[in-house]
Amino acid sequence: MTALLELRQLSGGYSPIQIFQNVDLVVQPGETVGFFGPNGHGKTTLMKTISGVLEPWSGDVIFEGRRINREAPRGSRRFRNFNYDAVTRRRMDPKAVARAGLIHVAQGNLLFPEMTVDEVLSIAPMAAAGREKGNRFGLTSIHSLFPRLAERRGHKIRFLSGGERQMVSIAAGLLAVPRLLILDEPTLGLSPKLRLELCQSIRAIKDMGVPLIVIDQDVAFLSALIDRLHLFDHGRIARVLGKAEIPDHDTLMSMLFGAAIT
Ligand SMILES: Nc1ncnc2c1ncn2[C@@H]1O[C@H](COP(=O)(O)OP(=O)(O)O)[C@@H](O)[C@H]1O
Ligand SMILES: [Mg+2]
Repeated sequence: MTALLELRQLSGGYSPIQIFQNVDLVVQPGETVGFFGPNGHGKTTLMKTISGVLEPWSGDVIFEGRRINREAPRGSRRFRNFNYDAVTRRRMDPKAVARAGLIHVAQGNLLFPEMTVDEVLSIAPMAAAGREKGNRFGLTSIHSLFPRLAERRGHKIRFLSGGERQMVSIAAGLLAVPRLLILDEPTLGLSPKLRLELCQSIRAIKDMGVPLIVIDQDVAFLSALIDRLHLFDHGRIARVLGKAEIPDHDTLMSMLFGAAIT
């Protein structure tokens, strides 16, 4: 069986600072995997690299059997203030990645504040790039998944709460007809009520058969959702736990910091 996503010895960061090293990962079709780890250790940077927002320094990203990065490094990047990316051919193209169906819902609110909910949701299908055939995600299904968005249709993004914006971002991701959906800290900073609503919607998305990579700090939510949890620490996958092995938050934290010292 061809893996849905495979990372081979992937390394990257913000030149000249390396953030993550030699990450190997396999996600099979239909799987849901989670990432958990301390803030600032590179989870978001890794996801941005998978989706081509940042270029990998070395290693490969293979999506549905096809390598989506081009050949790796051309020598060292010697001059700090020189923008190498501006003058060389990109080794990874975020548009091509999205067109292949690898859809990344970024951490934080990256929506246009002056657009309405309906406007955002009307442009989102443009990223579907021919995958719409037999698509389950029309506006009706989005509204049954996120009833709040049906109530907020004409509202501008800047008047929505953090949780509602997160719902719009995920809804836009679904309208792009993902083959794999990456959710980076979807429940971060939400009120308990909205968090609960959002967690239920994400579980429903999984039950619809959408493969997910979910990064979150809420272990209870993750362990109910995912097949495998990757503990991420100092830019590495420090440990992989099967669904049945995932302990509570405190045990996980001590596991993580225990495993971090090498
Ligand atoms: N745009 C950026 N430029 C330079 N460094 C960054 C940038 N964004 C994040 N970093 C740094 O990269 C490291 C990893 O951050 P991040 O990937 O956001 O971690 P996490 O998602 O695990 O919290 C942090 O030290 C952070 O300060
Ligand atoms: Mg992050």
